[in-house]
Amino acid sequence: MGWGKCNAGPRAVPGAAAAPAAEGRAGTWAAHKGTAKREDPAGGGGSMSAADPNPAAGAVPDSDPHPGRAAVASAYQRFEPRAYLRNNYAPPRGDLSSPDGVGPWKLSCLAQTFATGEVSGHTLIDIGSGPTIYQLLSACTHFEDITMTDFLEVNRRELGLWLREEPGAFDWSMYSQHVCLIEGKGEPWQEKERQLRARVKRVLHIDVHQPQPLGAGSLAPLPADALVSAFCLEAVSPDLASFQRALDHITTLLRPGGHLLLIGALEESWYLAGEARLVVVPMCKEKVVEALVRSGYEVRDLRTYVMPACLQTGVDDVKGIFFAWAQKKVGCDGPVHPALMALIYPDSLSSVVAPNKEISSSC
Ligand SMILES: C[S@@+](CC[C@H](N)C(=O)[O-])C[C@H]1O[C@@H](n2cnc3c(N)ncnc32)[C@H](O)[C@@H]1O
Repeated sequence: MGWGKCNAGPRAVPGAAAAPAAEGRAGTWAAHKGTAKREDPAGGGGSMSAADPNPAAGAVPDSDPHPGRAAVASAYQRFEPRAYLRNNYAPPRGDLSSPDGVGPWKLSCLAQTFATGEVSGHTLIDIGSGPTIYQLLSACTHFEDITMTDFLEVNRRELGLWLREEPGAFDWSMYSQHVCLIEGKGEPWQEKERQLRARVKRVLHIDVHQPQPLGAGSLAPLPADALVSAFCLEAVSPDLASFQRALDHITTLLRPGGHLLLIGALEESWYLAGEARLVVVPMCKEKVVEALVRSGYEVRDLRTYVMPACLQTGVDDVKGIFFAWAQKKVGCDGPVHPALMALIYPDSLSSVVAPNKEISSSC
């Protein structure tokens, strides 16, 4: 991918406010709505197939220019969705009753951003959905056609359980209730879940390390009007250069002027998901903003959250969370060359990062 040049001039960026044991995994999401080669087959088994064209099982070709990436892919083969859900979305992290908790913070970042009315359209893609749906609870009011994606079939199957309301699906009702509460529209949580299920049109395989992350001839309508991605890019990238390339890749899925809502870990280097121990590239808010600007975004908002001691539970070494709202520049034909960064965006970083409002938390 070559370096692009943005037509847009320098733009100051205001804003910056700153369970249970493993259960059966039967079934695969295919209620959609059409079938094709990259979509999970109905009732599919656990093996990767043409529908999941992934060289992830640990093979590292001699000539592989990205051996670190292959190691990441290999480590993910041990990822256990149920353990990941238990570690991060069941109490204590999944306790939504404390306003200082990480769950309420994430959900309000999303709810407040969608409440501006500026992030809307027809199509939205969630990048690296994993086994979770909370990240789409506010989005689903604003987009009729939602694509969920993940690298691992086990995660796509876990999503399928919830989407089809099958026995053993993770219970997200506390999250749905909380989102209805903070959105303040009096919507019943059951209606929120019904709408999300109806609007998720497909669950696809994705590899953010590929220049075409959804493959050629993807079933998702492209380019999308918006992207959401939570805890994916830094958790699948062995280093910052890889994170930047992955961001460039997913940005090709977004139309110019479209919005990206990016949530991720700050200063994290590993996390656990059952038998899997995953390596994470440690990020700080300045690096996040710089990467977004380099990929051709205007950063509209950047918020950070400090993980309180009571939520540091030994399942990872995360220190905080960032939330970024970024808009893809119109007239930007690719990532911005580093040498142009200082010239084109002399104050883009300080204007976003300086007024950061960190939510200090105590339990
Ligand atoms: C930390 S989990 C995030 C899950 C979820 N979005 C959340 O908010 O909790 C990272 C996800 O990235 C997925 N993943 C791993 N390698 C990937 C790749 N190369 N491309 C896209 N996603 C990948 C994993 O399967 C996993 O579901």
